[in-house]
Amino acid sequence: MFRITILYGAIREGRLSIRAGKAIKNALEASGKAEITFIDIKDYNLPVMEARLKDMQVPPAGLLDISQKLHNADGIVFVTPEYNNSYSGALKNTVDYFTKEWAKKPIGIVCGSDGKQGGLNASNLLQLLVLAIGAFPMPYKLLVPELPLSLDEEGNPQNEIIGKNIKRFVSEYLWFVEAISTQNKKSW
Ligand SMILES: Cc1cc2nc3c(=O)[nH]c(=O)nc-3n(C[C@H](O)[C@H](O)[C@H](O)COP(=O)(O)O)c2cc1C
Repeated sequence: MFRITILYGAIREGRLSIRAGKAIKNALEASGKAEITFIDIKDYNLPVMEARLKDMQVPPAGLLDISQKLHNADGIVFVTPEYNNSYSGALKNTVDYFTKEWAKKPIGIVCGSDGKQGGLNASNLLQLLVLAIGAFPMPYKLLVPELPLSLDEEGNPQNEIIGKNIKRFVSEYLWFVEAISTQNKKSW
């Protein structure tokens, strides 16, 4: 059983990308190979980052909880909407608080938009962010276009293509996490 932490990064009222978060949570759980911890950044109300957690005397409420959930994970999945050709500011703000929590973690990327491109621009930039934090971005990304048409409110796929892409993502991700987490465990 792999311990997977999903970090979902939109806090907008009426956010549709939560459907992509639910879809990937459901699909990973259904594999029977993953135990999921879901971090919804909206639950934490984090301030704009002024210092990294490691440099703080008194961290904001919830920050240590997130740190622990990231640290404990064999693999992490970032889920974000595309805003202005990039990932959400709320996700980046959260990422910036942490350092060693990311070290050598395998990270899967899930992006969504209400348009046809499914957050392609955000996903490419997110791969670069993952490299910058010393983690490994999975090459295959899950893009969810036309969010309200592709997934229902519970994250259930509404057409064959998105269903197939979710299955492929899960299969690639479990391989990726197994490969990297096995190696990571050797060095602990
Ligand atoms: C500030 C902002 C910027 C956006 N920029 C883009 C964009 O660059 N490309 C895109 O495809 N959709 C863009 N969208 C639309 C989102 O894809 C759409 O809101 C979608 O439902 C996912 O975001 P949500 O989870 O906040 O609903 C933008 C939405 C907002 C609120």
